[in-house]
Amino acid sequence: MTTTKSPSATTDLTREVREKHKKFLFPATIQYYQEPIVPVEAKGLRLRDADGNEYLDFFGGILTVSLGHADERVNAAIVAQIGRFAHVSTLYPTLPIVELAERLARLAPGRLEQSYFTASGTEADETAVMIAQLATGSTEIVALRHGYSGRSMLAQSLTAHSTWRALPTQVAAVKHAPAPYCYRCPLHLTYPSCGVACARDIEELIRTTTTGRVAGFLAEPILGVGGFVTPPPEYFEIAVGIVRKYGGLFLCDEVQTGFGRTGGTMWGIEHWGVQPDVMTMAKGVANGLPLGVTIATPEVAASLKSLTISTFGGNPVSCAAANATIRIIEEENLPGNAETMGRLLREGLEELRRRFPKSIGEVRGMGLMQGVELVEDETAGNRTPAKALTARVFEEAKKRGLLIGKGGLEGNVFRIAPALTVGRGDIAEALEILRESFSAAGAC
Ligand SMILES: Cc1ncc(COP(=O)(O)O)c(C=O)c1O
Repeated sequence: MTTTKSPSATTDLTREVREKHKKFLFPATIQYYQEPIVPVEAKGLRLRDADGNEYLDFFGGILTVSLGHADERVNAAIVAQIGRFAHVSTLYPTLPIVELAERLARLAPGRLEQSYFTASGTEADETAVMIAQLATGSTEIVALRHGYSGRSMLAQSLTAHSTWRALPTQVAAVKHAPAPYCYRCPLHLTYPSCGVACARDIEELIRTTTTGRVAGFLAEPILGVGGFVTPPPEYFEIAVGIVRKYGGLFLCDEVQTGFGRTGGTMWGIEHWGVQPDVMTMAKGVANGLPLGVTIATPEVAASLKSLTISTFGGNPVSCAAANATIRIIEEENLPGNAETMGRLLREGLEELRRRFPKSIGEVRGMGLMQGVELVEDETAGNRTPAKALTARVFEEAKKRGLLIGKGGLEGNVFRIAPALTVGRGDIAEALEILRESFSAAGAC
């Protein structure tokens, strides 16, 4: 079967949207593909552009459309809420916000019971850092190299990718620990004989670069933008143990890994058996509507004593969408589907790695969060990031009707993360397109 499609002719609408985007938006607003697609309609995992091309969407608006596009049950909840009212601000308690807060308190691990709602992951992480500082009386925060927290001043200081930083570190209280990136160990060691030295290094980091007391450790269970870097099983127990010894809280960023994405569990961190003191969520929580959540223990939540408001935070429409999304994730056991389908996807990607042993250095991730790192020649031990090849495969996949994501410091990691509702047929189709795209791009 060949799935190469002849791209349809570029329509006036596509041309107009691309031109206006270029003219009226900040030039730094990153777009995928040499010729960006202009989506006009999407349903489930299928997306159509303004030229009539159809795509199988295996990136879901950056791991955000958990149930697939335009889910009718979520749409019905949104429409019903808009019909009642769209906005009143957090100055008035609403049914959707308390329903969501109660639901999250039930689902979140341990004693994480009280939520603060914002409109993005950036704000969720900001809130987490703020309450950790207030609760501990310390200011310094340990974050991870290759981590990503968003685009505010603090979030950019937490983010450890030069490519995503417009300004130098603005918040001096942030200290970056080495990433648990076994494929490219920053300490040049090999797991497991390394003894998870990257986690143990946090003690040295705290003792040498801070006042000796920290407010917390903010980390993603799987480093998303970093290229789905997946820490070894012992990592969080060791890292969090050290942070707690020096007075800090564990701030777990579940913006990408939350809501069943990693398969089998609701939260990514459950795979590491460590309980966070604060957790942040966004992306997949509301199937595409903007919502950020910071959930904390009652003691930590109580440390924020000033007046505080987020105009759009916990917007009733976003909360209604989130309530419907999470209800369906639970009722249909989508973490279970993410585990089963994730295994299938992983097997197919491992098979791809065997077929292209030079170009594919590593396949990693969990559930429906699978990364494929491309290098110059793995068989010869040359792990130089294969940036040009990655870009070619990316374009070839698009040509054949498959949308995937990219990540990693050098942009040489594919991020493959379809909606949690993905089926066997979709996975078989995506793998076939990937096989053809790697061949067509000259992978070997
Ligand atoms: C792990 C993580 N945290 C925080 C953010 C920031 O979220 P937002 O873009 O909604 O501000 C992102 C965004 O990609 C993310 O991946």
